[in-house]
Amino acid sequence: MKTIILAGGQGTRLYPMTTVISKQLLPVYDKPMIYYPLSVPLLMGLRDILLISTPQALPLYQQLLGDGSRLGVNIQYAAQEKPQGLAQSLLIGESFAGGDEICLILGDNVFYGHNLTSVLADARSGLEGASIFGYPVKDPQSYGVVEFDAQNRVLSLEEKPEHPKSSYAVPGLYFYDNRAVEIAKHIRPSARGELEITAVNQEYLRQGQLKVTLFGRGIAWLDTGTPEGMLKASEYVEAVQSRQGFYISCIEEIAWRRGFIDSEQLCRLGQEAKSTDYGKYILSLVGGCV
Ligand code: G1P
Repeated sequence: MKTIILAGGQGTRLYPMTTVISKQLLPVYDKPMIYYPLSVPLLMGLRDILLISTPQALPLYQQLLGDGSRLGVNIQYAAQEKPQGLAQSLLIGESFAGGDEICLILGDNVFYGHNLTSVLADARSGLEGASIFGYPVKDPQSYGVVEFDAQNRVLSLEEKPEHPKSSYAVPGLYFYDNRAVEIAKHIRPSARGELEITAVNQEYLRQGQLKVTLFGRGIAWLDTGTPEGMLKASEYVEAVQSRQGFYISCIEEIAWRRGFIDSEQLCRLGQEAKSTDYGKYILSLVGGCV
């Protein structure tokens, strides 16, 4: 399975400047927002990643993350010229994906919680068609909304419905078989002029191949789409980290725990950031880092 992370120009509800600076480069508490979605493929052991962003922001991501080798992974880059929808990322990523399955994740989605890795592994295992998630929120009309029956069979999917049929929003994390690319080629732009990922999921639903997994109370899916959402996400990360001493989405730590890099490389990465608490945390993970 290959991973596509879309950190495009969508979601300009945040500040006017996010049309200039990709908002996923802004920090959520102590690290760039992009680290949070990037931690998801790393946790899942997926090492081939395509990062899609605006032509203006791509060089910044390249400076930040390079080719991924520092983390023992392979990161490639591609431009989305205009914010024409999430599903467009499947088209941009066509040759990168080759014939493989695809994990699509949005660059502004923050996931954290108990058993996240095994929930993701279960959702992915035996993938046939598409596998998406549902998460209860108070404002479902801001999201894709999934309606399902008692057996978690999907009944309907709607993008930002005025009258949501359930309170379950669809987070920006999707697992697809390789047909997603072909499906994305055949959908039409929505009223807001975008190729909606919900339209791709609706096609899988029509074919009877859409599975939904509900995230329970133990998992946090945080919104970073608004100034309040950014602040609350930062406060959440700060509260967990300072209380437990474990860092959320420390990509260097995850790469090391997954065996992508050795202790020596982890020390090196910690040294480079040692003037920050983040760097000190990395250094504290292995004994004998000097
Ligand atoms: C997008 C999707 C929506 C999904 C949301 C998750 O919304 O279109 O279905 O629930 O991401 O973050 P957008 O960010 O484009 O408003």
